[in-house]
Amino acid sequence: MVQDQNLRVLLARRPTGAPTPEDFSIVSDAVSAPAPGDVLVQNLFLSLDPYMRGRMNDAKSYVPPIQIGEVMGGGAVGRVIRSESPDFAQGDIVEGLLGWQQFAVAKAKLLRKIDPTLAPVSTALGVLGMPGLTAYFGLLDLGKPVPTDTVVVSAASGAVGSLVGQIAKRLGCRTVGVVGSADKAQYITDELGYDAAINYRTAGNLRKEIRAAAPDGVNVYFDNVGGPVTDAVFENLAQRARIVICGQISQYNSTEQELGPRNLSRILVTRSRIEGFIVFDYADRYPQGLKDLSGWLANGEIKYKEDIVKGLENAPAAFIGLLEGKNFGKLLVQIAD
Ligand SMILES: NC(=O)c1ccc[n+]([C@@H]2O[C@H](COP(=O)([O-])OP(=O)(O)OC[C@H]3O[C@@H](n4cnc5c(N)ncnc54)[C@H](OP(=O)(O)O)[C@@H]3O)[C@@H](O)[C@H]2O)c1
Repeated sequence: MVQDQNLRVLLARRPTGAPTPEDFSIVSDAVSAPAPGDVLVQNLFLSLDPYMRGRMNDAKSYVPPIQIGEVMGGGAVGRVIRSESPDFAQGDIVEGLLGWQQFAVAKAKLLRKIDPTLAPVSTALGVLGMPGLTAYFGLLDLGKPVPTDTVVVSAASGAVGSLVGQIAKRLGCRTVGVVGSADKAQYITDELGYDAAINYRTAGNLRKEIRAAAPDGVNVYFDNVGGPVTDAVFENLAQRARIVICGQISQYNSTEQELGPRNLSRILVTRSRIEGFIVFDYADRYPQGLKDLSGWLANGEIKYKEDIVKGLENAPAAFIGLLEGKNFGKLLVQIAD
């Protein structure tokens, strides 16, 4: 045993609007022992993801809410410390919903074994994990891009958006990214190969800037944010555009219900299609997605960027920052070496 105490981050109360540090509590408990069929995992990297904000509310969604006093849920990569399952041995690297804690007891059948020789193990939470698969299936299955298309992506420098742009680019599409800072704009064009970047925070007239970057109209809009960015893209749709509703992060901290979908006359006149998307629906096709993403990563066709915060106790502040656009790349917390 490495240590017998387990630092854990719990949901202390439900946030109203933007989360604050008081919504979380940090406790130290004894490390639990695994039962037959379970493994004890020491978490190495914790993934911080926008969907976690929804799980802090007492609201029905595609996953149940976290209860007050429960450990914050989330994906993590860790090392097996003790195994009570024939499928895992001590020292194996695994990925699963292990939570905001240093140690987790998990059902072996719910864990994915990670090959640490293929790529850094943290990529199992990003490019070779849930965000990568979201970009892959959301763009290819719902966006259905063809080489002559212009693809616009919001939150374009992030874990999902950075990959959507690169996958669209390797298909030959024109790619336009909407981001929240000059650094992010430079990164997506210079490093990721986006054809154009728009900073929505400094744009004078977002509708006009999108028109200038997508003069033939937007054929595919991969929407990660909703709100005013999406309104401006809707004003620039091409005929038969495909709109993938992947995320609406601009509204996750809202205390008021949005009035309703806006600009729907633009959908009508352009005969466009809007479709919601949840990556879990593609679970049976994950092996195909991971095979393609690993191949593209190995031959340098796609790049990724990580924003790594050290120490589990810093997870709440990092998560609060994610919802303000402070992260630059896939946000991870390094819990152990
Ligand atoms: N449907 C699914 O199955 C699925 C799966 C994974 C993720 N998602 C969604 O995909 C989106 C991106 O997730 P990610 O993990 O890749 O996160 P991310 O892009 O790495 O980080 C979130 C980014 O969102 C942007 N943002 C934050 N507040 C915003 C606001 N008020 N208006 C506009 N942009 C804002 C910020 O970038 P800027 O500085 O550029 O604004 C921030 O860096 C999220 O909406 C998430 O919920 C959906």
